[in-house]
Amino acid sequence: METQAIRFYYRGKVHEVTGEATTRTVLQYTREDLHCTGTKEGCAEGDCGACTVVIGELTGNGNVDLRAVNACIQFLPTLDGKALFTVEDLRAPGGELHPVQQALVDCHASQCGFCTPGFVMSLWAMYVNRPADAGCPSRREIDDVLSGNLCRCTGYRPIIDAAQKMFDLPRQDFDRAALARQLQALQRGDTLAYEHDGHVFHAPRTLAALGRLRASHPQARILAGSTDVGLWVTKQFRELRHLIYIGQVAELREISEGPDGVYIGAGALLNDAFDALVKHYPELAELRQRFASFPIRNAGTLGGNVANGSPIGDSMPALIALGTRIVLHREGVVREMPLEDFYLAYQKNALEAGEFVQGIRVPFPTRAQRFRTYKLAKRFDQDISAVCAAFAVELDGQTVRSARVAFGGMAATPKRGGAIEAALTGRPWTEATVRSAMAAVPADYQPLSDMRATSAYRLAGAQNLLYRFFLETRTEAPLAAHEVNAFANV
Ligand SMILES: Cc1cc2nc3c(=O)[nH]c(=O)nc-3n(C[C@H](O)[C@H](O)[C@H](O)COP(=O)(O)OP(=O)(O)OC[C@H]3O[C@@H](n4cnc5c(N)ncnc54)[C@H](O)[C@@H]3O)c2cc1C
Ligand code: FES
Ligand code: FES
Repeated sequence: METQAIRFYYRGKVHEVTGEATTRTVLQYTREDLHCTGTKEGCAEGDCGACTVVIGELTGNGNVDLRAVNACIQFLPTLDGKALFTVEDLRAPGGELHPVQQALVDCHASQCGFCTPGFVMSLWAMYVNRPADAGCPSRREIDDVLSGNLCRCTGYRPIIDAAQKMFDLPRQDFDRAALARQLQALQRGDTLAYEHDGHVFHAPRTLAALGRLRASHPQARILAGSTDVGLWVTKQFRELRHLIYIGQVAELREISEGPDGVYIGAGALLNDAFDALVKHYPELAELRQRFASFPIRNAGTLGGNVANGSPIGDSMPALIALGTRIVLHREGVVREMPLEDFYLAYQKNALEAGEFVQGIRVPFPTRAQRFRTYKLAKRFDQDISAVCAAFAVELDGQTVRSARVAFGGMAATPKRGGAIEAALTGRPWTEATVRSAMAAVPADYQPLSDMRATSAYRLAGAQNLLYRFFLETRTEAPLAAHEVNAFANV
């Protein structure tokens, strides 16, 4: 196969790249080939933020989206048609520091400096995305934007001070229109076909082209945000001979509302997908905040979380409890099923050869519904769940008309709890009913012990989360989140 060149915009010019491995990371390329070594490598797995860069991408309406992501787990060919910004881009030609950098200096917000370029880029993305008249961001907004950046020696207080102070310094505007013109010139009409050393990277641009490619290469690996797949390469050294990247398929980014609910295309980024869901389900706000980190949610997709189907994935329990349906596509033929039916066994799902996930449909809440989802993990931010629980009951007066319960971390797949649901359905929504449903938890789940938690801890945790759900949603004297959770945002 004859290869095309990967083309992207970086430091004022278009770079055309061939001769690089399909899974070479953006971080390796910028440091080792372009010798731009400001961006650092800490963990090579998306956790520490030392490698944070900003990616610029055209949106459907001709605007430019600028998002901070982790360069250590993004593959170079995913940059095709996009712009890359690293810490080297910020200083003015005359040497003056950007307000982000100046504020970090003024606030003494760097000691060893290893983490600093990553903080600079996360803050730069916040700076350029914030309208000039929006004022200073809140502490909560800053915490969220910096949730993927670790600093081991300075301490966060001066860094957060700098994040506020940078908006007080003379404003420096970013010319999005000029970048949009550069990116327009880079867009291709058709699929990118890149090859190196017998390894292939395809990036189709339409759903139809993706359908055809997938059907003719059922053995290829679909690549979305690379926040799972990237680690297979950087940590497990797996060889991926053929990748089909779905990040350029505009139809898969669709997020829309119909009469019955929200449709989220499989390529919608986690941050965008959660925004759309939190509008209808404010109960998802904490899960959104605690799902990975801000830059991981800027790259990873909700479709990737659902398709990957990890038993400890965080979105599936909530989506299953809400009655979500998954939409599958094979060369123009679409079928749907309840999300819980998609998971067959550990790392085995209902996708047939040549099929891919096109999107999910999440119903709107009903008036009678009470819903919560809880994540049990050792840290508040950026941690993997030991247990993730989701409960949705519909009440008819005092009686439970229907109950949907799902857990992650409790079985080989995300799984509904049939015995728990049976113990709740048709019964009064009282402490006695909930206690009997808690006793049914071991009938549904026999969790493993591993480094995150013991089986006994998981069982007790699951039972207590069900009790907490009751305390927060009982009809008489329900408790507010902060009365049952010391970390709740009040
Ligand atoms: C630092 C870090 C923190 C994380 N924290 C969390 C967390 O708190 N909670 C959590 O649940 N996850 C977490 N993750 C895991 C990951 O971010 C999510 O699973 C994410 O949603 C994956 O989406 P992606 O687009 O990056 O998928 P990718 O890595 O691109 O793909 C993942 C898998 O899904 C398949 N796939 C993707 N899209 C499709 C499709 N449309 N059709 C068919 N197959 C498809 C791929 O082939 C692959 O097998 C974390 C990851 C990292 C690196
Ligand atoms: S090097 Fe740690 S997140 Fe990339
Ligand atoms: S300044 Fe040393 S790790 Fe942050």
